[in-house]
Amino acid sequence: MVSTIEPKSRFRRLVCSVAQKFHSHHHNGRSGRSESVAGSANSTVTALRGKVALITGSSKSTGASIARALAAQGASVVINYAKDSRSAEEVAQQINLSLNSTSVSLSLTSMNHQGDGRNDVEVPRQQQQQAIAVKADSSTISGGHYLLQETLRVFRRLDILVLNAGLMGSRTLSEIDESFFDAHFDFNVKAPLFLVKEAAEVMVRPGGRIIFLSTSLTTASIPSALLPNALCYVASKGAVEQVARVLSKDLGTQGFTVNTVALGPVDTALFRAGTSQHVISSIAAQVPSHRIAEPDDIAPVVAFLASPAAQWVNGQIIGVNGGYVV
Ligand SMILES: NC(=O)c1ccc[n+]([C@@H]2O[C@H](COP(=O)([O-])OP(=O)(O)OC[C@H]3O[C@@H](n4cnc5c(N)ncnc54)[C@H](OP(=O)(O)O)[C@@H]3O)[C@@H](O)[C@H]2O)c1
Repeated sequence: MVSTIEPKSRFRRLVCSVAQKFHSHHHNGRSGRSESVAGSANSTVTALRGKVALITGSSKSTGASIARALAAQGASVVINYAKDSRSAEEVAQQINLSLNSTSVSLSLTSMNHQGDGRNDVEVPRQQQQQAIAVKADSSTISGGHYLLQETLRVFRRLDILVLNAGLMGSRTLSEIDESFFDAHFDFNVKAPLFLVKEAAEVMVRPGGRIIFLSTSLTTASIPSALLPNALCYVASKGAVEQVARVLSKDLGTQGFTVNTVALGPVDTALFRAGTSQHVISSIAAQVPSHRIAEPDDIAPVVAFLASPAAQWVNGQIIGVNGGYVV
């Protein structure tokens, strides 16, 4: 039978259904600047049950929201951070307490990577935890290796890998030097690529999901959006998109999907750093709904791409920007 639904609207419906589940499970108490999404608070959410997700840079901002969205679908999640152990533990604890209510008195395992492969903090762990926090520097290959090993040690498998952690510096051509360039390509391209290389050896297949994060600045059509000081950031994110495209052809043969979510401006520390309120307001004015995204605007799309329903979405760059760039 021929479907009468346009591909784009079919995609929107699927994302919407994941969003409904996410929002019904993850009540964040905000006053609702976003559209409210109907859904029963008691609805059974199982799309990712039994799966394990690793999200780099997930102690706060977009990564934390993605971790919550994946956990709300039933996945066990690894919360990765570099510095802020308190935030990471809060995210993990929140997931464990709200989504694993059968466990009484949960405790959290904190692990620490100092580059020498040793754990220097370890709290006793209970059997039924859904989230753990792991300190590891995702801008390095050794940090990614440690993160993967901890994931496998605790959860014994990996289904979903989200390469979220990233570096965004602001320098023009005349201001950059080799170390600034290298820092962006090491963090945004090299370390994620080698984490994928190692993870792909052990990830569950078919059905593995690899999701990179990029920026709408790689295709921005708004003159004021692409500033000269975005040089290394945008160059490295452009490389990320091309890495993902090629990997979709390679790992796709083993039943993985590899996609990129390209975000418009999202209200996070990374975005706010060095951005004046005037600039933020002028960017918001160019978004059809006149606001900057919040992390929870992004996470349901990542959760959809991670779900079995997205098995036919492979090698794509999905713009999630509220119509800022079309
Ligand atoms: N925000 C935007 O407007 C925007 C737009 C387009 C694309 N993006 C992309 O979206 C992704 C997330 O951005 P965001 O704005 O949510 O970032 P963010 O606010 O800077 O959040 C950074 C997260 O990454 C962690 N982190 C930082 N360095 C790390 C490292 N070396 N190793 C492990 N974890 C590290 C931080 O943990 P600790 O603080 O605990 O160390 C924190 O949890 C990035 O790839 C970014 O390029 C963002």
